[in-house]
This record gives sequence, structure tokens and C-alpha cells, in this order.
Amino acid sequence: MKMSWPHRFAPSGSIRAFPNPASARDGQAAASVTLSWRSRRTEFVEVRAGAPDGPLVSRTGPSGQTTTGPWVHNGMLFFLQNVSDGVPLSPEGTLDKVRVEVLPGSQAGTTWCSAADLAERFLRSRPVRWLEGLAGRRGSPPRVGRVRLGSLRRLTPISKEWGFDRGTPVDRFYIEQFLESSKADIQGVVLEIGGDLYTRRFSSNRVVKSEVLSPEPTPGATVIADLTDGSNLPSDTYDCIIATETIQFIYEVRSAVKTLHRILRPGGTLLATFPGITPTSDRVYGSTWSWSLTPISAKRLFSEFFAADSVEVRTYGNVLAAASLLYGLAAEELSNQELTTHDPEYAVKIAVRARKARS
Ligand SMILES: C[S@@+](CC[C@H](N)C(=O)[O-])C[C@H]1O[C@@H](n2cnc3c(N)ncnc32)[C@H](O)[C@@H]1O
Repeated sequence: MKMSWPHRFAPSGSIRAFPNPASARDGQAAASVTLSWRSRRTEFVEVRAGAPDGPLVSRTGPSGQTTTGPWVHNGMLFFLQNVSDGVPLSPEGTLDKVRVEVLPGSQAGTTWCSAADLAERFLRSRPVRWLEGLAGRRGSPPRVGRVRLGSLRRLTPISKEWGFDRGTPVDRFYIEQFLESSKADIQGVVLEIGGDLYTRRFSSNRVVKSEVLSPEPTPGATVIADLTDGSNLPSDTYDCIIATETIQFIYEVRSAVKTLHRILRPGGTLLATFPGITPTSDRVYGSTWSWSLTPISAKRLFSEFFAADSVEVRTYGNVLAAASLLYGLAAEELSNQELTTHDPEYAVKIAVRARKARS
């Protein structure tokens, strides 16, 4: 099918791989990478390996993310294909592509050393610290008038796509950290809201059934229900519910948490994430964006339905991560230390792990 669009209305998109370059494990030639993509004016997209009609890696709505197995070879291309309205798997439907460089395992050290890490090492080096000490300004804030805002002196964000168009959004980095540390809970019958990305990515072989809930029919959804009401959802059913980035879009948030608690099996676990510090608009979901929480309101909200001592609230981020998220910088633009330093006064991402009582 030949599609011709005025340029302004043409579908567009971008796909990124992280890390890139990636490093193979010692003695191996292939690596695993995380692909993330975002598109505009599309309904469905597919990621294909090697060619526009190569093997299917993932099929999603306009944006998505997946982590490959350790089968990505040096030079492998991934194509982001628009497949809305029957657009064929041909170069005409290619929105973007990314080439992944894979370095042999022995070079792993250099692979993970980003420019930000190098800069950080330099700033921590002895000569620099000595000079700072001489100036008597180590650790103290710059004087008024001496702050250099550089690229951040602007009134619009650097990305309006959460940083998806630059790499991995900062808040997604934290969501993945949380799920990685909660892997053991993702077992049995698992329900995920809006897709099965994280069930597939973080589950063990102890998942016996994976369900996807959506309020309206969408590809991949196996349960159609609105969590506000949820009367068609069976009680005491799921061993684990993954509700990442969901409850902030539900105005009747208490009703939604009540439903999530009711449909969990006794002893089952809810893994939920939502924003603390955040932009409050989104191209796709902005019209229903209702809430940000604080660690205190999160604890109180979930403790209305779960026993308070079964509600664990974790926060992620610091002032730099918060500013980076607001500006739309990607996680790859910060060093690991900058991302993982935890300042509880700047809760960029809030995560709740809540267990339903057994009796
Ligand atoms: C930003 S997406 C998050 C999707 C996915 N969990 C993730 O982390 O990428 C928000 C999700 O909340 C779902 N959602 C919004 N309101 C809902 C409601 N009332 N009941 C059930 N799901 C809802 C949307 O359908 C969508 O899948």
C-alpha cells in the first residue's frame, strides 16, 4: 500500500538501543540490549531484526521497550516499522532504525564507561579535588550569579517525549530497578496493566499464566476491565499484579486500589509505581493524568486496603535526576552514580510493594 503524507502529518518515530555499544560476555560474541521506541501518528508499530520484514522482536502501540536475549551480534540492525492501517513491512513503513555495536567481552570495562562516568572520574581525581580545596569551595554551592545553567537555560524541555527519543527515560530506569529487586514476587498467575513487557522481562520460570488488563480492547489485552469499577474481575485470583504507571491516570484512585487488593490472591503481591516529581502532561495519557503522590500519601492510600505493615514504599531519585526527568534527558546522559544516589527529599519515582493478608 502506497502511503503519501504531507510531511507535517507523516508518522514518525525513533528507536534506541541501550547500552550501545554493548559488551558480550567473556568468550561470547553476542550481547543482550534494551530497545526502546516511541512514535507519533501511529496506532501499532513493530520492531524487526535485520530488515524491515525480518524476525519480529516486538509489536506494541506507539511506544514500547523490550530487552533482547543474548543473541544480538555486532552490526545488527533493528527496524521500527509502522504497521498501522496495513502499512506493509517494507522500507516505506520504516520510521527509524538502530545499529547495535557489540564489543568482545574483554572490553566490557570500556563499554560501560560512559562520557558522564569519565567526566565524573575526572572531577573526583586528586588534582581537581586539590584545586577545589585550595579554592575553599569544595562541596559549597556556587555564589549567586555564578551558577552556569548551560544547556538547561531554556523554557521548554529538551525532550517532550520523556527522553524516549534520546534513550531510556530516567523514571523508567527506576521502575526497572524496582522490578529487578522484586523479581521473586513475579510468579504464579500474573496480571500486568497495559502490556506484558515487565512480566516477560522480569519473571522467572515460576509464572504459570500471564494476563494483560486494559480498560478497552487493545492488542495483547486478555482482560478488559476498568479498575475503578472492576465488577467483572474475579476476587482472590492473581498471585502478582504489576501496575506500573497506572494509578496516576485514575481519578477514583481509592476505588482502583481497592479493586487491585480484591483481585489479588491472599498472600499475593502488588507491585505499583507512580510519579512523585514529574511533568504532568503526556501526549497519549495526558487527558486523564490525575495524581502525583508523596511517600506519605502513598503509604496511607495503600494502607487503607492492605495491612499497613505489608505496605512497603520505596522512593528513587535525587535533585539531579528530578531535573533531568523534567527536562526530558535520558538515563544514558547521567552516570550510574548520579542515577542511583538516593535523596529521599526528591522522590522522582515512588514504588509500592504491598502483600495481601493470607487469611
Ligand atoms: C502510561 S500507561 C502504563 C502502561 C504500562 N503499565 C507501563 O508501565 O508502560 C497507563 C496505563 O493505565 C491504564 N489505565 C488507565 N486508566 C485505567 C483504568 N481506569 N482502569 C484500568 N487501566 C487503566 C491505561 O490503559 C494504560 O495501559
